Amino acid sequence: MENIIEVEDLTIAYQNKPIIWDIDLKIKNNVILAIVGPNGAGKSTLIKGILSLIPSLSGKIEIFGKNINKNKGKIAYVPQVGNVNWDFPTTVLDVVLMGRYVHLGWVKKPTKKDKEKAMEALKMIEMENFADRQISQLSGGQKQRVFLARALVQEAELYFLDEPMQGIDIKSEAIIFDILKKMKSEGKTIIVVHHDLKTVKKYFDSVIFINKNIIAYGDVETTFTKENIDKTYIGIQDVGII
Ligand SMILES: Nc1ncnc2c1ncn2[C@@H]1O[C@H](COP(=O)(O)OP(=O)(O)OP(=O)(O)O)[C@@H](O)[C@H]1O
Ligand SMILES: [Mg+2]
Repeated sequence: MENIIEVEDLTIAYQNKPIIWDIDLKIKNNVILAIVGPNGAGKSTLIKGILSLIPSLSGKIEIFGKNINKNKGKIAYVPQVGNVNWDFPTTVLDVVLMGRYVHLGWVKKPTKKDKEKAMEALKMIEMENFADRQISQLSGGQKQRVFLARALVQEAELYFLDEPMQGIDIKSEAIIFDILKKMKSEGKTIIVVHHDLKTVKKYFDSVIFINKNIIAYGDVETTFTKENIDKTYIGIQDVGII
């Protein structure tokens, strides 16, 4: 299988203080990949760095063999929910429609088909009855699902989801992972920052352990070991994995 992401010697710093460093990564096509590590380990920073949303101190990044700027339409990104300002006055349907902008022509007006696709995505996450609701008037988990719908309608090849299960109940989590599985069967690649170590084996093909640098990376079967968990969550008692 070909690599769709190749990262070499990436270092990211905020105000000149390195946050993650020595990052070498090759990510294969058509996998569901978990990024795990403790709070502040640099998981969100890694994603933002790969997407060039924040500058890097050093390193080379290629996605689909090209610079990120040549791939914009192929990549969808759902930021961590806590980092989004939800107070803007807009409806659930409009938020989802924003995901269609990459497909709109210069007129930038959503067509009937765009709206149908948005409603379809809302249905998939069981939020179709909330289409006209203001986004600020949803619960945390509902907002998270709407953001996922927005990514779905983008019809990208590669998805970066930063803790999509945050604030999500077990039923919604199962629905979302079913959607991710279906996306994988359609050839997509899905990279997920994931907090719940108990469900890594159940839902993911491969896993990246990160804590400032990459501790381990590989297939879940061989890499999701107690040893790697201990190395990553060093000094943290009872990380909740049996
Ligand atoms: N804009 C910023 N300016 C300065 N430091 C930052 C900034 N964003 C993040 N950091 C710091 O970088 C480190 C890594 O943050 P990051 O958000 O990548 O962690 P994370 O692994 O995603 O954590 P969490 O599990 O809490 O989401 C943390 O120490 C954080 O305080
Ligand atoms: Mg984070």
